[in-house]
Amino acid sequence: EWSSQPEVTAAHPPKNAAGDGDRRPISTVLIIIAMQTEALPLVNKFHLSEDIDGSLFPKGVPWVRYHGIYKELHINLVWTGKDSILGVDSIGTISASLVSYASIQALKPDLIINAGTAGGFKAKGACVADVYLVSNVAFHDRRIPIHVNYLYGIGARQTFSTPNLIDELNLKVGKLSTGDSLDMSPQDEVLILANDAVVKDMEGAAVAYVADLLSVPAIFIKAVTNTVDGQKSIAEEFLQNLIAVCTTLAQTVSQVVDFISGVYQIIG
Ligand code: ADE
Repeated sequence: EWSSQPEVTAAHPPKNAAGDGDRRPISTVLIIIAMQTEALPLVNKFHLSEDIDGSLFPKGVPWVRYHGIYKELHINLVWTGKDSILGVDSIGTISASLVSYASIQALKPDLIINAGTAGGFKAKGACVADVYLVSNVAFHDRRIPIHVNYLYGIGARQTFSTPNLIDELNLKVGKLSTGDSLDMSPQDEVLILANDAVVKDMEGAAVAYVADLLSVPAIFIKAVTNTVDGQKSIAEEFLQNLIAVCTTLAQTVSQVVDFISGVYQIIG
């Protein structure tokens, strides 16, 4: 059960990827990212190198793995890469699920960090450049109006609990709703608000589903590029703020990684 997993603290490190609860410290971290603009500041910050032999993934897929050692942690950043036909970032839930599955199988991470940009609801307090640590995820575009099946569609789950991290970094905390569209239809809006979400993205709940399937703790760090409940065009505001917000996102992700490494150096 996700919600009953131990917290990320020195006293209670999470179970390892195998879920056998042997309480060894976090050693391998998998960062899953959908956009190149989100990935590059982190590749630079952690001095990661691109995996060029590509042996980790099947031949021909666009997925890119960067890796390196940072503060004694094995950092792997996997970017879903560019669509092989259109040459644009492979955003959305399909690529995110596939990359999550393949990367977990290959790397056996102790912790997953899904980092990316998100749209925010200003009515719920979200502002451009805010960075959220996500407490819960759900989908808003999988409508199955048949009794229990609708709950499967929503796919709501709690993320890995990290109260000490939240306190230490003073992060905003809120719920995330995931769907495969950047814009927001009126029906999406109703369902996102029903999910009680403050931020919306295009990957989070999919990564959470796979992480849960394979019993790997996962946390979600989402930086707001645009609001979705104002007068401005979502796509315009998103593009306008993308680069600056990705710098902010990278700063927060690196603080999170520093926290994780610090916690485990104490007991390591
Ligand atoms: N990522 C950044 N802005 C977004 C939005 N409005 N919807 C979904 N994902 C996003």
